[in-house]
Amino acid sequence: MTSSYKSYQTVETLPSVIGQSVVLNGWVYDSTGKGKLQFIKLRDGSGTVQCVLFKGNVSEELFAEAKTLTQESAVRITGTVRAEERAPSGVEVDVTDLKILSLSKDYPITPKEHGIEFLMSNRHLWLRSSRQHAIMRVRAVIVKAIRDFFDGNGFVLADSPILTPAACEGTSTLFETEYFDLGKAYLSQSGQLYAEASAMALGKVYTFGPTFRAEKSKTRRHLTEFWMVEPEMAFFDLNDDMDLAEDMVEYIVQTVLKHRRKELESLGRDISKLEAVRRPFHRMSYTEAVEWLNKNNVKLNRKQPDGTEIQIDFPWGEDFGSPQEEAIMQQFDKPCIIHRYPSEVKAFYMKRDPENPKVALAMDMLAPEGAGEIIGGSQREDDYEALKERILSHDLPLESFEWFLDLRRYGSVPHSGFGLGLERTVKWITGAEHIREVIPYPRMITRIEP
Ligand code: 4AD
Ligand code: MG
Repeated sequence: MTSSYKSYQTVETLPSVIGQSVVLNGWVYDSTGKGKLQFIKLRDGSGTVQCVLFKGNVSEELFAEAKTLTQESAVRITGTVRAEERAPSGVEVDVTDLKILSLSKDYPITPKEHGIEFLMSNRHLWLRSSRQHAIMRVRAVIVKAIRDFFDGNGFVLADSPILTPAACEGTSTLFETEYFDLGKAYLSQSGQLYAEASAMALGKVYTFGPTFRAEKSKTRRHLTEFWMVEPEMAFFDLNDDMDLAEDMVEYIVQTVLKHRRKELESLGRDISKLEAVRRPFHRMSYTEAVEWLNKNNVKLNRKQPDGTEIQIDFPWGEDFGSPQEEAIMQQFDKPCIIHRYPSEVKAFYMKRDPENPKVALAMDMLAPEGAGEIIGGSQREDDYEALKERILSHDLPLESFEWFLDLRRYGSVPHSGFGLGLERTVKWITGAEHIREVIPYPRMITRIEP
């Protein structure tokens, strides 16, 4: 048989072809019979639709064959599209012909409850479930919104390499591999350093790709392989950087609401919370945040040398963990940027605040509803001597950073950027409990398969 992909319709487009005869390809979500009728719930990746087979419309053989359909059998259905108010998609299909492409036997994921480890081991099949399907469709629109935002605002896509000769975000979370005769190479923790070089060539750039961290943390927010979009802008200071981050996050959320509202509803997401994500967001300095924690009696548990735990005020100078971030965010219904963290807890490349060198011109964006940090960014150190001193004091190999120092030797300018974690963002927007559900094939310290 010769046919073009254009001769098949997708479920998503059916409301625009009511009354017409269509050919659909897909899998059986569910098939039930009732007298002279067989109801086949067909999913084709774009959506699901109920197809109704009436005994009087087809041959005896075909009707009998349809009764053998099992969950996840592959079929090609020809039928007429009919408006049906009661159907979630607004349409149903009256079947005129049906071809079984392959019968599925004992599909392991049934409508009953399964344990998470079982589902994770069957991730390659679990993706077909309606909840996972909805999350993946939201994820894809988030990626498109990110690209559209930057492409439409004068940014040039300039991707950074994944195999790199040195660390970017500390040496404790590096994945390393042998690299021919050249020694060790590392999977990139962040494309930032190269994005800085690209920005000096192209002005405003972004890199968007997978990044890797050998995180020992087994939390609901950590993957070992995750996607990050990192814009980097010449001539932007920290304020410009924060403004851009707010513009981008507002754009992402509002775009998802526009194009994936149905999916969010099917996930049970509280839409009104997302509608509230409008600029301006909240902002507070790290120092103000510490004062707020201590004024509100949010204590820090501290282990004593003898093993006992005591509760103390939050000491200025320590990094926030999720308990502090969650406490701060409880008062807010939209994201909050915390800026000017102590330089000691932040990366070597961040510029110190000329007005207070104890803090770095850094910023993190925290999302509400317990989602935590979605963005980390900063204004970069643009002074040659200061940066060189920082590389040395962080025990980083100077020879690997000579090219990075070149950016401060030849036409150094103020510049800034940030990284948005894609999966953290999808998790927040979809309301997923765990980050493992928001990437097709999650990589975590305890899982590399399937
Ligand atoms: O705050 P991070 O470490 O910042 C950087 O890597 C900078 N170099 C970015 C830049 O300025 N260009 O990471 C940025 C974001 C975090 O806010 C978080 O959303 C995400 O990346 N992220 C992770 N997501 C999932 N799993 C992990 N293990 C993550 N680590 C960071
Ligand atoms: Mg961070």
